[in-house]
Formats: sequence, structure tokens, C-alpha cells
Amino acid sequence: MKILVVGSGGRLGGALVRLLSTQHEVSGLRRADLDLADAGAVELTLRAAEFDVLLTPAALTNVDYCEAHPDEAMAVNARAPGLMAQVAAEKGARMIHFSTDYVFDGRDPAPRGEADAVNPLGAYGRSKAAGEAAVLAVSGAFLVARVSWIFGPDRPSFLDSIIRRAMAEDEVSAIADKFSTPSYSHDLAAMVEVLLAGEPAGGLLHLCNAGECSWQRYGQVGLDAAAAAGIPLRARQVGAMSLADMDFAAPRPQHTAMSVARYREFAGALPRPWEEAVDAYVREFRDAF
Ligand SMILES: NC(=O)c1ccc[n+]([C@@H]2O[C@H](COP(=O)([O-])OP(=O)(O)OC[C@H]3O[C@@H](n4cnc5c(N)ncnc54)[C@H](OP(=O)(O)O)[C@@H]3O)[C@@H](O)[C@H]2O)c1
Repeated sequence: MKILVVGSGGRLGGALVRLLSTQHEVSGLRRADLDLADAGAVELTLRAAEFDVLLTPAALTNVDYCEAHPDEAMAVNARAPGLMAQVAAEKGARMIHFSTDYVFDGRDPAPRGEADAVNPLGAYGRSKAAGEAAVLAVSGAFLVARVSWIFGPDRPSFLDSIIRRAMAEDEVSAIADKFSTPSYSHDLAAMVEVLLAGEPAGGLLHLCNAGECSWQRYGQVGLDAAAAAGIPLRARQVGAMSLADMDFAAPRPQHTAMSVARYREFAGALPRPWEEAVDAYVREFRDAF
């Protein structure tokens, strides 16, 4: 398959290129190659590209920046995916677009399913929800994969930062009352490979590692993995902070863990638990900390 990854410079895009290149002809576009805010450039660049499969992890992902720049967020996260979907449909290509657990309002603690209503709290979530709708309006055969709390070697995430903080400081803490599911970019790319090897029905699909946790628990499992990997830590316990105490510019949803039942039905197996994925990442990249 000829696969084009738009957003190959990002956390997920880097992992997609690396893993899928082992079996497919993969090319990537970075922001320097294509500015998704430029609608004309999106159409021209995509029309000139050759691909059977289009993967679009690129997005304006800084939640607080999106709150301050809602028009830019809409252009990049909603208009551009719709345009890319149109070109993919013209070429008869498959498409997997990536979205977020931030499309939910986070008020219900039960894991969110694909059929649950979206109700984003901020500009980032609104722009991503509009992007989902724009892609699926072009073709119901396209997939929109919602992912959450990505970590991996291509770009630092919360996991890297809490380990680095614990190496430098005696005390670290993280929010204890906000919940979702950490997801290893490598595992997400492997799930995409499973999807591409088969013929899943189009529509929404939740992709993440199995389980759920708070930021505090995520950080604690990260520090435990770091200690087990021999990384020297000054802080060994992650203290608790409250979401209400944070001074974020954009509102954050509280409970956004997602059910992977639909993926499990297709793949025949659950993704591995997030704790195993964190441990595997920290062990493999221990020298990078
Ligand atoms: N990270 C998470 O925890 C998380 C959680 C839920 C959902 N998601 C979703 O998962 C997907 C992948 O996330 P990620 O963590 O891999 O994101 P990321 O590391 O921030 O990568 C996003 C990529 O998009 C590029 N980009 C931003 N604005 C652009 C523009 N105007 N034109 C072209 N490219 C642009 C970025 O380029 P620059 O680096 O040059 O700006 C970056 O390479 C996104 O759709 C995101 O919404 C992520």
C-alpha cells in the first residue's frame, strides 16, 4: 500500500511512519511541507500526492492555544480534515483521521463509547468534533479514530516530564481527579496496522491502551517503571493535585476514558493494558531520560 501520513513530525505521526514503513511504502508531510491552515495548499498538495491510504494525525493540539485562537483551530482541525477527506474520496483512497477524547464533556465517569453524544467544553474539542463530522460527511467508509493521552519517543509528553521532574526535584505532584487512558504511540500505530490489514466498517472508533487512570496514577506508574529501569529519581511518589486548583486557560473534561470494545470486536483482542505500555516505553528509552 502507498500510505501518506499528514503530520509525520508529531508524536503519533512519527510512530505511524516508523511502524508502517516496515511493510508499506510510506511518505510523510510535516508542517514545513504543508500548512493545514492554508486551504488552497491543502487541496493542491494532496491532489499532487499519490496514496492508497491517507492517515491524518496532524492537528493543532495545544488546548490552551486553541482557546485563544479558535479560528485557527477550526481551520486546521476541522476545515483541513474535510478538504483532505474530499481529495481522498476523489482518489478512491482509504482514510483514517485522528480525533480526541476532548470531544466529550467528561461529566459521566463510565467509559465513553462511540455512540455517546459529544459535547466539547472548549475550542480544541469543538474544532476536533467539527473535524470528525467533516470527514465522515465526505464518506461513511472513512474511519475517525479517537485517541487519548499519547506518549512515545517522538515528542515529550506528561510521562517524560514527570520522570524528568522526579529526577531533578524532591517532590512532584499531578492531578488526581481527572481520568482517561494513557496510550503508547507505538501501540496505536500497531492498532492502525491491524485496521489496514482488514476491512473495518467506517465511522468512529476508539483507540487506546486498555484500562484507565488519573494523571496522578499515570505519573506514579511512570515513576515506578523508571525506578525499575534504574533511572535515578529524587522523588519516588506522585502527590495529589486537584483539577479545580489548576489555572488552565481552557476548560478540561474530567472523565474521558474510552471503551475499546468496538476495536476489540474487530481485532479479536484487547490492546495491552496502559501500565504495561508505560513500562515498555520507559525501559526501551531509559537512556533518553
Ligand atoms: N497528544 C495527546 O495526548 C492526544 C490526546 C488525544 C487526541 N490526540 C489527537 O491525536 C492526534 C495526534 O496527536 P499528537 O500527540 O501526535 O500531536 P502532536 O505531537 O502535537 O503532532 C501534531 C502535528 O501536527 C502538526 N501541525 C500543527 N499545526 C499544523 C498546521 N497548521 N499545518 C500542518 N501541520 C500542523 C504539528 O506540527 P508542529 O509540531 O510543527 O506544530 C505536529 O507535527 C491529533 O489529532 C490529536 O488531536 C492527541
